[in-house]
Amino acid sequence: MKQDNREYRENNLSYDLNEQNLISPLDTESPLYEPKIRLGILASGNGSNFEYIIKSIQNKKLNADIAILIVNNPNCLAIKKAIKYKVPYVIINHRDFDSRFEHDMMVMKKLEDLSVELVIMAGWMRIVGEEIINRFNNRLINIHPSLLPSFKGIDAIQQAIDKRVKITGCTVHYVQKEVDSGSIIIQAAVPIKEKDSKETLKKRIQNMEHIILPLAIAKVANNIRNIIKDNK
Ligand code: GRF
Repeated sequence: MKQDNREYRENNLSYDLNEQNLISPLDTESPLYEPKIRLGILASGNGSNFEYIIKSIQNKKLNADIAILIVNNPNCLAIKKAIKYKVPYVIINHRDFDSRFEHDMMVMKKLEDLSVELVIMAGWMRIVGEEIINRFNNRLINIHPSLLPSFKGIDAIQQAIDKRVKITGCTVHYVQKEVDSGSIIIQAAVPIKEKDSKETLKKRIQNMEHIILPLAIAKVANNIRNIIKDNK
């Protein structure tokens, strides 16, 4: 008799998981909260995660307004996406500042002036200082292309390939002083295939990033709204 999928899974240890990507926590429904959360997005690169945040808002999966996109790199493609979707943006080029501290202060001032409630590092290729971390305590999150705590720091995808691990993935976490070390909000696992190049693997990791980042934002926003409610 033909078994259904579930029975097959339960009875066969050799069940083929290769095409599956696991997200954890498993509740993949975006929480609904009110009112909208005001986001500040920090980006330095292509802005694909930024674009998926916009799409999640448009699709009503994320109850948010993007107050500002801040970029530190005047040539980054994220700017083009801001223009395309009519999201306000500002270039705060770190090269125009004498120190990391001064640059951080300008970023922080912009976020404060616009009453940003939750800050998203969506491919922000800079270490943020303690002032921003403390000011946005539990309201500053980052996405990293590995299953933390493995492969912290730069070129995490290449690090995973070099170590020949069989599963890698991506992580959204709170930002702490130590790079890529804050509490984990959500992770997705991505199998590494034998024929993977860095580019093919990156594509599959990014596909999962585009799912988990908006979800993580909704979870954190929901927490922020519930904390406010509890305090009233
Ligand atoms: C992502 O892979 C993210 O994990 C890392 O930087 C990359 C940004 O990609 N921190 P994009 O600019 O959102 O396309």
